[in-house]
Amino acid sequence: MCGIVGATSERRISEILLEGLKRLEYRGYDSAGLAVLSENGQIESLRRTGKVQELKDAVGEHPLGGTTGIAHTRWATHGGVTEANAHPHISNDCIAVVHNGIIENHSKLREKLRELGYEFRSDTDTEVICHLVHHEKQQHADLFDAVQAAVKQLDGAYGTVVMDCQDPGRLVVARSGSPLVIGLGIGENFVASDQLALLPVTRKFMYLEEGDMADITRTGVKVYDKSGSRIERAIHESDGQYDAGGKGNYRHFMLKEIHEQPSAVRNALEGRLVDGKVSGNAFGEGSMDVLKDIEHVQIVACGTSYHAGMVARYWLEALAGVSCNVEIASEFRYRQSHVHPNSLLVTISQSGETADTLAALRLSKELGYKGSLTICNVSTSSMVRESDLAYMTRAGTEIGVASTKAFTTQLVGLMMLVLALGQSRGLSGDKQQHIVGALKALPAKLEEALLLSDEIEALAPEFADKFHSLFLGRGSQYPIAMEGALKLKEISYIHAEAYAAGELKHGPLALIDAEMPVIVVAPNDELLEKLKSNVEEVRARGGIMYVFADKDAHFQGDASMRVINVSHCDELIAPIVYTIPLQLLSYFVAIIKGTDVDQPRNLAKSVTVE
Ligand code: G6P
Repeated sequence: MCGIVGATSERRISEILLEGLKRLEYRGYDSAGLAVLSENGQIESLRRTGKVQELKDAVGEHPLGGTTGIAHTRWATHGGVTEANAHPHISNDCIAVVHNGIIENHSKLREKLRELGYEFRSDTDTEVICHLVHHEKQQHADLFDAVQAAVKQLDGAYGTVVMDCQDPGRLVVARSGSPLVIGLGIGENFVASDQLALLPVTRKFMYLEEGDMADITRTGVKVYDKSGSRIERAIHESDGQYDAGGKGNYRHFMLKEIHEQPSAVRNALEGRLVDGKVSGNAFGEGSMDVLKDIEHVQIVACGTSYHAGMVARYWLEALAGVSCNVEIASEFRYRQSHVHPNSLLVTISQSGETADTLAALRLSKELGYKGSLTICNVSTSSMVRESDLAYMTRAGTEIGVASTKAFTTQLVGLMMLVLALGQSRGLSGDKQQHIVGALKALPAKLEEALLLSDEIEALAPEFADKFHSLFLGRGSQYPIAMEGALKLKEISYIHAEAYAAGELKHGPLALIDAEMPVIVVAPNDELLEKLKSNVEEVRARGGIMYVFADKDAHFQGDASMRVINVSHCDELIAPIVYTIPLQLLSYFVAIIKGTDVDQPRNLAKSVTVE
């Protein structure tokens, strides 16, 4: 959460910082700020509430000329959305700090610093860091030593960058629980919370590990590990294919990403099915040796990724004969769980940085799992680096906060896991061929599902004045109903709940009336007749339904039921195919409601605080 960019160069850096912030805006977008060190050794800072564009406009009016600087885009945790709470925070006009994460002992430190005479100007936890560094500078002449002494006093999570007016051309950074990457240039160096911010200025990156600190000047970078010893971290060259600036001809990133799904799924499959089997290295070198002994899978994830895990449970148990639990990471990490023999811990994450999921992965290493696998979209992320095995979803950068192509490619990765585990557990050749055939047909099926766009756009106005909605599905479509409800609430702000249709009569039927649309996901599967009975239960109580149905399911539309025919697809891939119309529905409803589709209120894409 929150985005950080820092730079030290021979050229003016405010444009670089602003471009970096723009690219990081998906991490938080309630306020933004930057501070540069001017030629006369003064810190000049500008902060604004609202989007990065507000800050850009402010810099347009008051150009900032420094060659060293730090910048931040915020997602509020401690303290409301105000200019005073926006970063950078500055102590005594000299020590400027940006920070991602949460300082848990901030109240105690605040008290101590107040006693030392420091005045606080914000309600943030971050402000303690700048005063602490300022205080430590009285005992340690060197900025690096002062920052080191300060961070030793912090409990919680931080990725932080410090700039000192008395030490021009230098940035000191520290990472513990919040990612930081250093970008290496020629005669200039950079730091950011995500390499995406730095792609316009460099392709060479160095990832800091937990507990690392770094001393960054124009001409060099020195990294120190958590014991304080000097260490060399590997330099990675990024292919940097993605230009986050572009929505192409689409009105929003979300719409572009919805339409990218056929090609994203093609990428996720490419080269990974060889002779009708999952290729040995789809999950990384030597993965089959780990997977062959697995008897139980524990999936841990958050948000949309959690829904992907819930679909996988149906697949894993039915097809691969492996028992499976799925749990929200923030719950899993704080309870005492039982680890089954020969268990695989699977994390699913678009970003690979979600704090709770990452904590669950780290915890699993102490719990006796046979191994860990992450299904992830960011190859350089902490989860990929810290897991034994990884399946890269190759969806390409996802910018819209509401996840779309990341989800469908995660499902492809999970189906590959089913195949890989099934292969070593006696899944019949016919069944394997069936799965492979269904996966190969998937991109074309997704293209067909996208053709429903106009029809769905036309019915979106019917949702515009509604406050509540209910999504129903059964079997592996139940998590798809949950994902549909999540999409609608995230971007249209309409309250949306999902229920397993068989559970209707245990409560939600009491809510049914003509004011609450009921969305039903109805492929032609073995539960279709059961689902039809549930539909009748809704109809009998005056409910208004929108049924996304296989055309062979023979639903008859009438005044109380709109039927949207989805072209027939194999039952195995139906959860992936039916995701598309629900994504389109939430998108077009959000358009009618006039919300900020790509950056819905109060949310952020990468949740790096717990
Ligand atoms: C946030 C995003 C969601 C995402 C969830 C988990 O809530 O807004 O779109 O599903 O985090 O993120 P991850 O990167 O771990 O998949």
